[in-house]
Amino acid sequence: MVKERIDTLRRELERHNYLYYVENRPEISDFEFDLLLRELQDLEAAHPEWDDPNSPTHRVGSDLTSEFRTVKHRFPMLSLGNTYSLDELREFIDRIEREERRVEYVCELKFDGTAISLSYENGRLTRAVTRGDGEQGDDVTTNVRTIRSVPLLLQGENWPSMFEIRGEVLMPYASFEKVNREREEAGEQPFANPRNAAAGTLKQQASSVVARRGLDCTLYQLAGDEVQQMSHWESLEAARRWGFKVSEHGRLCRSWEEIEQYITEWDERRKTLPFPTDGVVIKVNEPAVRRRLGFTSKAPKWAVAYKFKAEQALTRLNEITFQVGRTGAITPVANLDPVQLAGTTVKRATLHNAEQIALLDIREGDMVYVEKGGEIIPKITAVELKERRADSVPFHYIEVCPECGTPLVRYEGEAKHYCPNQSGCRVQIVGRIIHFIRRKAMDIEGLGDETVELLHANGLLHDVADLYDLQALQLAPLPRLGEKSAENIIRSIRLSKQVPFHRVLFGLGIRFVGETTAKQLADHFRSLDRLMTASREELLETEEVGGKIADSILEYFADEQNQQIIHRLREAGLQFVAEERRRASDALTGKSFVVSGKFSISRDELKKLIEEHGGRNVAAVSGSVDYLIAGDKMGPEKRKKAEKLGVKMLSEEEFMALIVADDLPAKLTEEVAPQPEQIKEETPVQGTLF
Ligand code: IVH
Repeated sequence: MVKERIDTLRRELERHNYLYYVENRPEISDFEFDLLLRELQDLEAAHPEWDDPNSPTHRVGSDLTSEFRTVKHRFPMLSLGNTYSLDELREFIDRIEREERRVEYVCELKFDGTAISLSYENGRLTRAVTRGDGEQGDDVTTNVRTIRSVPLLLQGENWPSMFEIRGEVLMPYASFEKVNREREEAGEQPFANPRNAAAGTLKQQASSVVARRGLDCTLYQLAGDEVQQMSHWESLEAARRWGFKVSEHGRLCRSWEEIEQYITEWDERRKTLPFPTDGVVIKVNEPAVRRRLGFTSKAPKWAVAYKFKAEQALTRLNEITFQVGRTGAITPVANLDPVQLAGTTVKRATLHNAEQIALLDIREGDMVYVEKGGEIIPKITAVELKERRADSVPFHYIEVCPECGTPLVRYEGEAKHYCPNQSGCRVQIVGRIIHFIRRKAMDIEGLGDETVELLHANGLLHDVADLYDLQALQLAPLPRLGEKSAENIIRSIRLSKQVPFHRVLFGLGIRFVGETTAKQLADHFRSLDRLMTASREELLETEEVGGKIADSILEYFADEQNQQIIHRLREAGLQFVAEERRRASDALTGKSFVVSGKFSISRDELKKLIEEHGGRNVAAVSGSVDYLIAGDKMGPEKRKKAEKLGVKMLSEEEFMALIVADDLPAKLTEEVAPQPEQIKEETPVQGTLF
């Protein structure tokens, strides 16, 4: 009885989900939906034996963090050739039609999100994998289950018992704006665009966060042995019947004129869509023609993407103002008449630097073209000279800091002007402290931007080290504070002494050292002392650290004032050493390793494993090294040296076998799917559409 009710509720809730999120025609109110969901949740709580990962209750996600396993795609996820030119597109079509007669094409929108591959077995969602490098991607099934438009159980009939379907996870503009508003309120960096937001969200650790982000998923390509008989158009219709969200905007075209018409139409109409698109994909419809055309090594020859030029808007530039960052960098900002662009309202645009303003001869009062690139802040691409006022005058770039009046400087190789007054310019001082107390750095609660300004204005705070000398008695008498807040702030400052090393490092605000780099540096060097004394070469050995970052780190630690601050922070008891890693086993105790080349996991992850199992990482091959773990593309020199010195070489698999015992992370023990079909240049692939 209970089991039957559970099944009915699951089916019903899925049906309503579908009606709401795919068909856009709900039959019941949100309230009624919630009642049904609540009932199911209660029944499932009482009967854990009937839990099912595909139950609609799992769509709300969980707070458990999930490590993503890397899995191989059953069929590689290829990319598409693309062009911005109608002439080139025409050539693409002509080439096909020289060989084939009466070809049909399906024109579709090119959705601007992040690609996903969904696997279904016996009508149930079993796996969702990101594109990754096309051969293997991250298993993000738990997160994808929270996307309401992805069917967990298929509808209709005649679906193949096993197939993959590919599409795009999208973040509609409305969700994007909401997510970014929330991030800004929380003092976090907003996402640059809906595409990054969708990709970033899918890689979120907690699926409950994903569930709240309002993602959507549109499917556009079936893959699998059993779907190759259908034309593409038929397969889209079939997918729709099975409950997938398939765009209504695709069109079957039979001539170049029809294709061109589709493109012209959608270049305009896309501006009315609630989600981002960046072009049109043109695909051959018939499977037989597709097979004859085949693939290049990277992309099918039966499909191509035509990319739209970035959307532009024309608006008035009222005023150019300047921002001073915490590093002293000056950014000119264009303050505009608000205008709609690619789904959002734009009021400000970046002007990058003095050169760009001069190059485009941008003046206050001009009508300017704004465009959205990859960045969140749009840029100005041109001036409409026809609309320039007769009394307009060229813009003079500032020569002194708008905050402290210090003459600005230019550094070699840098396009921006800087205010060099690091220790005296209020905005820089306050900016550095605000950065230091951020949630992602020292997370000092109760100390907002305004309080930092207040403390600075009252002579209590000149640098981040001063924070640890503050006393409640000094704070309490200040306006808006009082005893209670003063004590809270002091407690929170004290607590920050426990914040792990990598966040302290991020908090220092070294130029170009963001959150990820800080983490990588902390992982690599393990302590501030080792980082401070590292040579340029040693810094460059860290993953993702290039010359620019290395130089900035060297410069930071060479500065005497910074050294003093670090000294005081050390005295205050901040964490300058990375936490001991969890010890997984002693399998490698006493052994030293050199890691070289590419592996299925990142080199740093591999090194972490070595340490977790008691081993030691060493930078260079020498006679005292026990093993060299050799990955793909390892330099021949290393191999020679190892052979000469008799250092034992291990493949990734052999290394894994050393530690395989009991405590391997899921990622490495996951049984991998069969090897993807090898697609060779010019060879038609039999048996799959991908
Ligand atoms: S078909 C082998 N159709 O564009 C062909 N892709 O540049 C596989 N994309 O990775 C892709 N909209 O993420 C296809 N209607 C559409 C698409 C689409 C967006 C993305 C997809 C793919 C990328 C290729």
